Amino acid sequence: MDGLRERLAEAGQSHLLQFWNELSPEEQAEMSQDLEGMNFKEINGFFKSAMETSSQTKQEKVDSRMEPVPREVLGSVTRDRDSLKDWEKEGLRCIAQNKVAVLLLAGGQGTRLGVSYPKGMYDVGLPSHKTLFQIQAERILKLQQLAEQQNNAKCCIPWYIMTSGRTMESTKEYFSKHNYFGLSQGDVVFFQQGMLPAMDYNGKIILESKGKLSMAPDGNGGLYRALGTQKIIEDMERRGISCIHVYCVDNILVKVADPAFVGFCALKGADCGAKVVEKTNPTEAVGVVCKVDGRYQVVEYSEITLATAQRRSTDGRLMFNAGNVANHFFSLAFLRDIVNIHEPQLQHHVAQKKIPYVDTQGQLIKPDKPNGIKMEKFVFDIFQFAKTFVVYEVLREDEFSPLKNADSQDGKDNPTTARHSLMSLHHRWVLNAGGHFIDENGTRVPAIPSLKDGTDLPIKCEISPLVSYGGEGLEGLVKGREFRPTLVIDKQGLHELVKNGL
Ligand code: UD1
Repeated sequence: MDGLRERLAEAGQSHLLQFWNELSPEEQAEMSQDLEGMNFKEINGFFKSAMETSSQTKQEKVDSRMEPVPREVLGSVTRDRDSLKDWEKEGLRCIAQNKVAVLLLAGGQGTRLGVSYPKGMYDVGLPSHKTLFQIQAERILKLQQLAEQQNNAKCCIPWYIMTSGRTMESTKEYFSKHNYFGLSQGDVVFFQQGMLPAMDYNGKIILESKGKLSMAPDGNGGLYRALGTQKIIEDMERRGISCIHVYCVDNILVKVADPAFVGFCALKGADCGAKVVEKTNPTEAVGVVCKVDGRYQVVEYSEITLATAQRRSTDGRLMFNAGNVANHFFSLAFLRDIVNIHEPQLQHHVAQKKIPYVDTQGQLIKPDKPNGIKMEKFVFDIFQFAKTFVVYEVLREDEFSPLKNADSQDGKDNPTTARHSLMSLHHRWVLNAGGHFIDENGTRVPAIPSLKDGTDLPIKCEISPLVSYGGEGLEGLVKGREFRPTLVIDKQGLHELVKNGL
């Protein structure tokens, strides 16, 4: 205990023990275990440099140094339609050769959605009630099957899942309870990112209760440190992986290990790639991929002025329109260099927050304005180190509908919008495969949903990823047939759930 007191005093953090004598022996044991594991010198260093960087960036606004992504690094599913098949074939070949892994960032706390469990376990209310984790697992299974069919070789796409102190146990339990959704247990690898304490503006660690520090995950860029400390790079090397698709848990439309994206990046010899959708609304809350001082970067929506966000090119589109959908491609060699060489140079970003704390009287205070900071690294902070960087543009309605917020009237990015986007995509798949929908009077529903009656609800249609990964293979099931919603297509066949309370 004396050693700990001394370390705290040296780091200017002695206040953490101010309620020590009021704690029960169990609380004391827990607190000293938490404190023993922390490197206060390092944390103070992070605070100092994060605060310095954040005040510098405020002074020299990033706006004037930004340039849009040049056309030559850009691949687009609409503008390069002719190449799409080749990219996809190459991606499936890489998958069949067991070279591709997926890595899920699932260490966030889901604060905006307001749930106490991991976001991947959220059920947005689809007819099947599948959760985000299950949808993603089934897409992996289907893709393995497609790669095997194309290349006549058995294969596996390992799934690395990054959790945090807050989400690890419940995530693992959930997967085990559901038998890994049919994936083999050894190919689902969980690992844990680090946590950092919240600090007040003077660099003092905040106590959330008398015996507990206020801790939060160190941002999705905490990935790079965790890849090293948890020996994930070694695991990938052992399996012969060379391409990694990294993505965020919240996008219900995510094309996990998207073969076209992987193939595009591989054929371009890229060490790093970012998937984007066209940003059309200047105030949309997505980061934009661009160049800053000649190096690739994502500039978050909060970091630029409205005037910059509103700038347009001569073709009328937003000048900074490469909206980051948090889907990245990395070569293993690139990730290895990041972990071994560059990670320590990455600066933490500062987020000012309202952080509940106990005051000197031991009273819990919930502040109504920001009283301190959380420090986070971002997953895309490593783009600057890429030697060959590419950008891959996809259609929003096919690939991007994130779940960020709880349902509210005319809200965005919530369970209702996520559910609707998935059903409307599956509706289009059925139409493209030659199927039709009819209403309760037997009349064909027009392909383009009308807004009459004030309803813009999508046709209720859900296709299991185990049946189709991206709309393929549906003709035999739906061509020339008429369906009454709700239509569900799963491994067992087609079901028309006429009485459905959705
Ligand atoms: C993120 C992107 C933003 C993009 C948007 C698209 C980052 C830093 N920002 O923003 O550029 O336009 O998605 O939807 O990537 N996570 C962790 N550990 C953490 C914090 C977060 O694993 O410590 C994970 C979350 O579980 C989630 C993902 O990172 O899967 C994104 O986190 P979130 O905070 O929702 O990012 P956004 O601010 O929405």
